[in-house]
Amino acid sequence: MGDGYSFVVVANRLPVDRTTGEDGEQQWTRSPGGLVSALAPIARTSGGAWVGWIGAPDDDTGPQEVDGIQLRPVPLSAQDVDRYYEGQSNSTIWPLFHDLVEPPVHRREWRQAYEAVNRRFAEAAAEVAADGATVWVHDYQLLLVPAMLRSLRPDLRIGFFLHIPFPPVELFMQLPRRAELLRGLLGADLVGFQRPLAAQNFLQLTGSLLGLQPHDDRVGYEGRTVVARAFPISIDVAEIDRLAADPAVQWESDRLRADLGDNRRLLLGVDRLDYTKGIEQRIEAFGELLAEGAVSNDEVVLVQVATPSRIRVAQYQQLRERVEREVGRINGEYGAVGRVPVHYLFQSRTPEELVALYLATDVMLVTPLRDGMNLVAKEFVAARRDELGAMVLSEFTGAAAELEDAFLVNPHDVEDLKRAMLAALDAPPDDRTVRMRRMRSRVHGHDVDRWARQFLDALDDPDRAKD
Ligand code: F6P
Repeated sequence: MGDGYSFVVVANRLPVDRTTGEDGEQQWTRSPGGLVSALAPIARTSGGAWVGWIGAPDDDTGPQEVDGIQLRPVPLSAQDVDRYYEGQSNSTIWPLFHDLVEPPVHRREWRQAYEAVNRRFAEAAAEVAADGATVWVHDYQLLLVPAMLRSLRPDLRIGFFLHIPFPPVELFMQLPRRAELLRGLLGADLVGFQRPLAAQNFLQLTGSLLGLQPHDDRVGYEGRTVVARAFPISIDVAEIDRLAADPAVQWESDRLRADLGDNRRLLLGVDRLDYTKGIEQRIEAFGELLAEGAVSNDEVVLVQVATPSRIRVAQYQQLRERVEREVGRINGEYGAVGRVPVHYLFQSRTPEELVALYLATDVMLVTPLRDGMNLVAKEFVAARRDELGAMVLSEFTGAAAELEDAFLVNPHDVEDLKRAMLAALDAPPDDRTVRMRRMRSRVHGHDVDRWARQFLDALDDPDRAKD
């Protein structure tokens, strides 16, 4: 205590993963997902510390400074990874919080590991935080940390932000030890969600499950007030804009277009390969458009970047097999030598490569079955300084509440997906520009800096920040 950091981020992953390069040399690579892209710039400028896992089992690397961020690794054993990360976090809580898109699995030993690992994260945060520091805990892997941290360090200001959806009351009620998870969150002073309905679900649960009396956006608990509110997350708009203006990125974008066929229109999907992202339905819809002759291989091409994610979890492995089979089938049936309708990349891409793809795109496809926000949608909009390009966007993403000028779609309905894809492809250029201009104005006015500032101001004083 005492000498520590006045601002501490606590998240399952550190913003960088320790990986081994082809030459056997250890290197740091950016961790996957929207959480890291949103928070890394804030951690860098705040001069605080980041407590998290290094991304590989049994790695006991000590404190490090990488890319201007003070890293405080929490080591996880292979069994911790199996039970806490792949088990309770990603096979129980993740599917349940995403509307049961896949059936959640419940195992007692996973819950025990989840509790033990959450305790280690809380202890690590307690160790590095200065007296009266602000500690910001993130996401569904660490739902118990706020209460554990408070009991270790009652002097701290503790914020929690959930990056994924918070489920409706009746789904949350299915969780074993549900009251304990709720009490875990109530250890925070401020609990942030992507959408107002999520905050309402949470507050309602404090009444029905714990007999508390929530009122407006807060609830009294153990002599404190806990505030629950929506803070829709965003992106580093200036950074995406900088990349989009970079001549090397623009050159790469032109090269991609030429390689894919200048006369073809490009549809693009960029997702972690996750069953919540609606990748299968999207590819199925595209395949049907080809089968019906509504589009042809000479006119359009689909690029799907599917970033590898949670590759040891059975549901992710099965999804990969299904997607790859369907891509093979479509390319086999509708492709020609040197020209296939679907380019599927099971690879991570650098921010430069992604922005080059965004710039080359005619229609961006962001069609998750359920998504807390979806930052790819916002990145695409931020990249399109030319005010061109259309976006098909799932109604079931947090982003849809802000980007109403996209072609909104029900991603569970393949007919609706086809309708929206054709509408976006056929929209007159003026219409696309008007839509893009409005979306850009929203994204520019609400970047990740503003998101963080609003959250941290509300953590400081919920009433001042509300005005
Ligand atoms: O926001 C959802 C989230 O699970 C983050 O917590 C995480 O950093 C990201 O997606 C990527 O997932 P994972 O860390 O499991 O690869």
